[in-house]
Amino acid sequence: MSVKSFLVIASMALSVLIGVVLGRQGTAGDGVAPDARPVRIGLSLDTLKEARWTRDRDAFVAQAGTLGAEVTVLSANGDDNRQVADVETLVTARMDVIVIVPHDGRAMARGVEIAHRAGIPVIAYDRLILDSEPDLYLTFDNERVGQLQAQYILDALRDAPKPIRLVRIYGSKTDNNAALFKAGQDAALRDAIASGQVEVLHEDWADDWKPENAKRIMNAAITRHGRNIHAVLASNDGTAGGAIQALREEGIAGKVIVTGQDAELVAVQRIAAGEQAMTIYKPVQQLARRAAETAVALARGRPLVARDAIDNGRTQVPSLLLDVVTVTRDNVEDTVIADGFHTREDVFQGRP
Ligand code: BGC
Repeated sequence: MSVKSFLVIASMALSVLIGVVLGRQGTAGDGVAPDARPVRIGLSLDTLKEARWTRDRDAFVAQAGTLGAEVTVLSANGDDNRQVADVETLVTARMDVIVIVPHDGRAMARGVEIAHRAGIPVIAYDRLILDSEPDLYLTFDNERVGQLQAQYILDALRDAPKPIRLVRIYGSKTDNNAALFKAGQDAALRDAIASGQVEVLHEDWADDWKPENAKRIMNAAITRHGRNIHAVLASNDGTAGGAIQALREEGIAGKVIVTGQDAELVAVQRIAAGEQAMTIYKPVQQLARRAAETAVALARGRPLVARDAIDNGRTQVPSLLLDVVTVTRDNVEDTVIADGFHTREDVFQGRP
């Protein structure tokens, strides 16, 4: 870490400590929740359609429960108007703190505004809320995710003939994380693209992270460039699944390296079967636990210290970033299985 970034973080830690405590005392709502009654937490989710989000929800609710907090969960099904309405509902129900996974990082600035007007602090969970002043942001190191995905392809094809013929499938344009994954991938690929070692044949954004949109992108890549494709840099397991479906239909699944993210059970099964090369394991149960703990602390007006700060276009949002791990067939036992994220039986389904 450079001296400069150390100083920024050190000074941020101080200002976060002060900012969070003062911010909570100065609110206009029903004040800091007294220790005597349960803290009420509102959890506003973009969607529950991908496996990871049900896991996040369950771990969050369970941890909040052990801390004596009650959680009201609302899911917006990928609809921004509905998510703003969900936040309004949580404000009307007088939550002590609201935790938001935004569908659209920009659109949800309105949600932060509505909550703050009622004196309710907001935690941005996993995805950043832009152009607003969320009290805290809890996430994984998202650029690192992108970096590990791209680096995997470079390493796996180090000795293969060049150029590596690559298809890139990004996530949803409305999700700030998708841009961060791409930024990490760009950084890892920069030199290899500049020197002609990697040729990007086709690239596109999968709207709303939907597998069917990723499949369409993969189909378009094959139509334009043929089946001689070496790798698909898919940004998560859902989009990897869409791409692999297209590869299956061409009879080349397993012959093309496909990346992913989330360590979803179906993706880890594809890794065991040799159709997907890797995924990124993000221990969401840890993230959910930390979020529930900080939500309760914020609601009770307790001081919080954030190690990092992330610029969201309006302010430096006090942030906490957790680490991620690359998962391949070689280390699936030592990572997701050892961690209890999936069972060996579920992953290998009787495979040797
Ligand atoms: C999350 C990923 C997830 C994607 C689609 C991103 O914001 O960080 O874990 O796969 O959204 O839901």
